[in-house]
Formats: sequence, structure tokens, C-alpha cells
Amino acid sequence: MEKGRTRVDLFEYQARDLFAKHGVPVLAGEVIDTPEAAREATERLGGRSVVKAQVKVGGRGKAGGVKLAATPDEAVARATDILGMDIKGHTVHKVMIAETAPEIAEEYYVSYLLDRTNRTFLAMASVAGGMDIEEVAATTPEKLAKVPVDANEGVSIEKAREIVAQAKFPAEVAEQVAEILVTLWKTFVNEDALLVEVNPLAKVQDGRVLALDGKVSLDENAEFRQPDHEDLVDHAAANPLEAAAKAKGLNYVKLEGEVGIIGNGAGLVMSTLDVVAYAGENHGGVKPANFLDIGGGASAEVMANGLEIILGDPDVKSVFVNVFGGITACDEVAKGIVQALQLLKDKGEDVSKPLVVRLDGNNAELGRKILSDANHPLVQRVDTMDGAADKAAELAAAK
Ligand SMILES: Nc1ncnc2c1ncn2[C@@H]1O[C@H](COP(=O)(O)OP(=O)(O)OP(=O)(O)O)[C@@H](O)[C@H]1O
Ligand SMILES: [Mg+2]
Repeated sequence: MEKGRTRVDLFEYQARDLFAKHGVPVLAGEVIDTPEAAREATERLGGRSVVKAQVKVGGRGKAGGVKLAATPDEAVARATDILGMDIKGHTVHKVMIAETAPEIAEEYYVSYLLDRTNRTFLAMASVAGGMDIEEVAATTPEKLAKVPVDANEGVSIEKAREIVAQAKFPAEVAEQVAEILVTLWKTFVNEDALLVEVNPLAKVQDGRVLALDGKVSLDENAEFRQPDHEDLVDHAAANPLEAAAKAKGLNYVKLEGEVGIIGNGAGLVMSTLDVVAYAGENHGGVKPANFLDIGGGASAEVMANGLEIILGDPDVKSVFVNVFGGITACDEVAKGIVQALQLLKDKGEDVSKPLVVRLDGNNAELGRKILSDANHPLVQRVDTMDGAADKAAELAAAK
């Protein structure tokens, strides 16, 4: 997991999986990322389903991100509507196809969280669930029971009954809710969570009480004893540049420095990183901002894609394009760079960072001439690798 984060918020489907693991009653569900996959998933659930947007933000239902589908075809249609939808600035990349609950009679709320101010754990429960719990807390605080939980004692069935009593759950569900509170506590403790929340915890027609929606935040500081949690981290969201590069088929890794790097061939790019880091020591310690290998056939389009990613990185202050012409000759690469800059400008991208270009190998002379003739105000040609690295580091340090 990346450094600097202490809290890992999960998607609903991941929370559902953890609940199931610890015995919290949930309905069947599978996560998919194409509309067509909704058909089979819905067939597996007996022909109907609930299509639920997977985004880490509340209020999905109100935003149109939770829809019932009465047939597999309808599930495909709803998944088509919901995938790609924007919910409060979050793009929906996945939906959960969930089993449809029997008719819902009542909706409750239960959660555990770490109460930092009071240095304790807190259970919260309400019979006024389903809706925004912050609103309940603000407008009708008497409907939200808050019960401190001692970390050493945890939540036994007796403790759970105490929480149920304080929240005034109806007698016919009291024991079921108490048992759920015990399993939910197991989830909270065994997964090293900072928050587990069920909203709604629904009483359905046949009398069962089910967790229909869940929210879990894990404590990243516990990663040493939770190796499985690594798989729950959403790396695409953690690094949008890497996700964008992946979508364009580019071999890109974000690093911590200021000098954007583009090269052809993994070996050349690796040594470029070393040379830039070394040169950076003479310029205030600037470092490479990324690894990007555009491979052998560096067309103008591939170059444009690479430049777009790198110029879109706010940490980047200068760019070093280091190409050794082989199968794709340097004149092609040079044309590619010139066209790429034009392409990005035409697309309205901010092209204002200086580029240092070093061309060597097949048709290097011709390539250099193309760059000189184009005379682009942001492009400087330096013909040795060390010299170019030094120039790029100097420009990054000057910004
Ligand atoms: N599997 C299901 N079967 C039937 N109804 C469901 C199911 N899941 C959710 N619902 C209904 O849809 C409502 C909204 O669902 P959910 O709580 O998952 O989303 P939300 O509350 O809008 O999202 P968030 O909790 O992120 O704000 C629920 O209160 C419930 O009435
Ligand atoms: Mg909800």
C-alpha cells in the first residue's frame, strides 16, 4: 500500500464480502464492469436483481445509482445507464448486481467506529435507518443511540442487547439485531477497521434482518497483520495518472520527482532515471517524476499519449525525451514530438513545460534537423544523454 494514507475506504461489494466472512447476514452479489455481464449475473440470481453503482460516496440511490431490474435484459439496460455515470464527481467503473431483498418492512442503522476524541470505540444504532444518518443525528438525535464499547471487553451478546435496548429496536427483531451486532463487531476487530456501518439494516417481509448496504474503512497501520487487505486497495483511484496511462496502453510508473521522463526501451528508460537522479544532485536534488517506456514503434500518437500523461502530472517541471533510434528511426520520432505538441495544443492542453530532447541512433542527424527546423519555443535539443539530463534537471530546479 502507498505511504501517507492511514485509512482505506472500501467499496460496498468489498464491505459485503467482509460482512459475509464474519457472519453478518447479506444477500448474494457480484461485481461487474460491463453492461453485458449484468445479464448472466442476474440470471444466476433467478432473473431479477438490484443494480448498484460502486462509488465511495454516499447518496447513490438519490443520484440514480441504485435501480431494480425485473429481468436480465433490464439489468443490462440499468447497468448501461449506471456504468460511466458521474456521482458527485466519482465516475462509476463497477456495479454490483445484488440479490433483490424481499419486500422491505423497516430500515435500521448500526455502526461501530473509533471515537478519537473520547479515546474509545463507539456503537451507534437507530431504528430510523435507510436515510442519511447525519441528518438523523442533527434533527432527531434522540433516535440515534450512542454506546461506548470497551476495547478489552468488546461486544458480547449481553453488550449487544444493551445497544439494542438503548436504540429501542422492536421486540420481534431485538435478538436478531443483537446477534448481528456481535458479528459486526467481529468484522470491526478482526479486520482492523476504523468504521463498519450498515445502512440500511433491513427487516424484510419474511422476518429476516439483512445488511443491504455497508461501509467499511480499514486501518492501514494494521497492514502488517492484514496482508489480504492489499487486494482491497483501489490503486486506480490512488494514482489517477497510472490509471490513465494504463488505459492508453502505456508502460508508466509514477515516481516522486520533478523531471518527466519518456524513452524508448525499458533499459534505456532505466538508465535515464539513474542519469537524471545523478544530474539532479547538482540542481537542488530534483529527481525523475516517472518511468515511461513508449517502446520501439514510437508513433506521433504514442508520443502524444505519453506527453499528455507526463504534462498532466502537476509535479512535473520539465520533461526529458530520451530516444535511441532503432526500428523506428529518429526522424520519425522527431516528427512525432512536433506533431504531439501540436496535437496537445489543438486539444487545448496546457503545453507550457520545457522539453529537453536527446536523439541518437538510426537517422539521428535527420531527426535533430527536424527539431531544429520546427524551432518549437519549448523544445531544446541536447545531443548527449548526460548533457540532456543535466539540462532537464536544471530547468526543473529553476521552476
Ligand atoms: N438488495 C436490495 N434489494 C432491495 N432493495 C435494496 C437492495 N439494496 C438496496 N435497496 C434499497 O435501496 C436503498 C438505497 O440503497 P443503498 O443504501 O445501498 O444506497 P444509498 O443509501 O443510496 O447509498 P449510500 O449508502 O452510499 O448513500 C436502500 O435503502 C433499500 O431501500
Ligand atoms: Mg445506504
